[in-house]
Amino acid sequence: MKIAVVGTGYVGLVTGTCFAETGNQVICVDIDQNKVARLQKGEIPIYEPGLDVLFDRNIEEGRLKFTTDLAEGVKDAEVIFLALPTPPGEDGSADLKYILGVANDLGTLLDHYVVIIDKSTVPVGTAEKVRAAIAKNAIVEFDVVSNPEFLREGVAVEDFMKPDRVVVGTTSELAKKVMESLYAPLVRQGNPVIFMDERSAEMTKYAANSFLALKITFMNEIANLCEKVGANVDDIRRGIGTDSRIGKRFLFAGIGYGGSCFPKDVQALAKTSSDYGYDFRTLKSVMAVNDDQKKKLLPIVSEYFEGDLAGKTIAVWGLAFKPYTDDIREAPALENIKALLAAGAKVTAYDPEAMDNVKKILPEVAFCHTAYAALDDADALMIFTEWPQFRTPDFEKMGNLLKEKVIFDGRNLYELSQMADLGFTYYSVGREP
Ligand code: UGA
Repeated sequence: MKIAVVGTGYVGLVTGTCFAETGNQVICVDIDQNKVARLQKGEIPIYEPGLDVLFDRNIEEGRLKFTTDLAEGVKDAEVIFLALPTPPGEDGSADLKYILGVANDLGTLLDHYVVIIDKSTVPVGTAEKVRAAIAKNAIVEFDVVSNPEFLREGVAVEDFMKPDRVVVGTTSELAKKVMESLYAPLVRQGNPVIFMDERSAEMTKYAANSFLALKITFMNEIANLCEKVGANVDDIRRGIGTDSRIGKRFLFAGIGYGGSCFPKDVQALAKTSSDYGYDFRTLKSVMAVNDDQKKKLLPIVSEYFEGDLAGKTIAVWGLAFKPYTDDIREAPALENIKALLAAGAKVTAYDPEAMDNVKKILPEVAFCHTAYAALDDADALMIFTEWPQFRTPDFEKMGNLLKEKVIFDGRNLYELSQMADLGFTYYSVGREP
């Protein structure tokens, strides 16, 4: 099939590359000339494990191309993916200017039947708006389909190639056939393509992310209560996760969720609810609890140093909002570092991927080449991201480097008994120190 992907952000690049890998002819379109020039030279502007191998192969075998020219992109396309940003506006609603801008242009360019697919996370009713924007100028038949992505950063290639399910919102029989054949190579193991109307598909995406954010937030509150009653949240997780109605995943308590998706989507669904006059109370709680959770360790650190952080050096392990990404959007580490600096502390930090991004916004942090270098002469360690290399460190070396053997762990990486045996003062989330 001939596929155009408009927008070469994270979703567009993964979608384009993976559909090239399944044998399609893919052309990715972006208005950013520098980005397209880099992509044409074979450079990937994002960090996503496993993407490079597929990217290189498909460029070399001529199935993956890039252009800044929308007309060239859509010339022979049978399907056109829209993978454009939908940044949140002041009021939390998703801004559709990029998507509707391209939709307007598409209307004048189309000269044959094509399926246009909303891949971005867009509010309920967007497919209808896109259809109307194209129809203003279009002289040919076309369909607009909602096909939300469920890719996690860091494992996006795997999520794309082996999806739990593919959600397709369309009532057009022709579009259904096109979508079925497009996804046939990816759902061979029996995972379904679920068809529904456009509005339900759009809503499915928000419901999925909001439910996961709720699941994490619920566990974070259980953790907070565990600290008060003297229970251990890890045991609670094991105890409830084995109930197949609850499920084992996304039950890890910590210092709150971050990233570009959960915070934005929870906020956008809350906004949709209020627009429609519905008071979605659980969503409001999720947002409020998560905001507090991100700052949870700060008073504990402050109390440990008797309210005086001035002149102290705090080492930070992990800056990205989660492992296997350099993405720092809404990352809990940032807010904590800002508060530490404001309280007069010095911050030394290490992250395997995200340091360059943090350097741009927090240049006063001392960035280190290794996790251990960040500990040298520091008064304490704070952990914000569960990179695997932090899980089984050389504790003896840590103890020798740190001025005080104290760790504030926002990701519950270590066993309490082990830390006690090693003589560390250890604070984590939802477990008695
Ligand atoms: C999320 C969804 O998981 C994807 O399905 C969705 O496609 C994507 O948003 C999107 O809308 O584009 P992502 O933001 O990449 O993916 O990251 P997750 O792995 O879901 O983690 C989100 C946050 O939740 C992270 O800050 C993570 O540390 C936190 N988390 C996750 C927990 O605190 N506890 C958990 O048990 C799991």
